Amino acid sequence: MATYHKFLGVEGLGKTFFTEKESKIVLEGVTFELPFRDSLALVGPSGCGKTTLILAIAGLLKSTEGSIFFEDKTVTGPNRKIALVLQEYGLFPWKTVAANITLGAKLQRINVSDKKIDAIKKELDIEGLDHLYPTQLSGGQRQRVALARALLLNPLLLLLDEPFAAIDTVTREKLQNELLAAFIQRQFSFIVVTHSIEEAVFLGQRIIVLSNGRPSVKAIIDNPNMGHMDYRNQPAFFELTTELRKILEETP
Ligand SMILES: Nc1ncnc2c1ncn2[C@@H]1O[C@H](COP(=O)(O)OP(=O)(O)OP(=O)(O)O)[C@@H](O)[C@H]1O
Ligand SMILES: [Mg+2]
Repeated sequence: MATYHKFLGVEGLGKTFFTEKESKIVLEGVTFELPFRDSLALVGPSGCGKTTLILAIAGLLKSTEGSIFFEDKTVTGPNRKIALVLQEYGLFPWKTVAANITLGAKLQRINVSDKKIDAIKKELDIEGLDHLYPTQLSGGQRQRVALARALLLNPLLLLLDEPFAAIDTVTREKLQNELLAAFIQRQFSFIVVTHSIEEAVFLGQRIIVLSNGRPSVKAIIDNPNMGHMDYRNQPAFFELTTELRKILEETP
């Protein structure tokens, strides 16, 4: 297996948006590393720049300061080893579930066998939905389809921007479990943006708290007990959610 000096490194990243009349600093001095097969949860108040940061890492948005390294190379544009799952699922309403699942692979000209497609549908519990369209699915099913599409690409880095936000608590926890199971079985790192304290603590080996203040990173919290399906029932989980809640309450 390849080893990297830097799997993902974000160094002194800043982003200022310029409009005709004003400039708006959204991110300043964001620095962190993410090793291979590690996970990171990104939390912080609305408007603090979480989506901006995710888009910059995906190579879809240029920063105004600092740099991002992926597999030791500077990120200058999209990379096929990085997959993105957006809050609005990013599914095409005019395509069936089957077509949506394989779309990313088709666009990237990656050949995936029917066996592999069937396996991922089974893993994410979306068998038998092939002929349906996204509007005929529940939010949880749509999110599973979006996740299946991203995982079919075999990404080394999976970026998820509030992936389970619009989903009821029970289904949401199931989806978190499925993501964790995929993370344990496969070989990738992920960054998940979330407004849920429990989700951040369940999924992030480290948790970065962004703020609207300067510099942008308010805290980086280690979460060494992450990675167990029953973590939610452990005292360490309760302690960390309490600590994170406290930090977020103090975050502008
Ligand atoms: N293309 C753009 N041009 C100008 N300003 C922008 C642009 N994109 C984002 N912004 C501004 O940057 C700030 C951060 O936006 P961003 O979407 O990254 O926040 P966020 O942390 O993801 O918020 P939320 O939790 O609500 O999703 C906001 O104030 C937003 O208005
Ligand atoms: Mg956002």
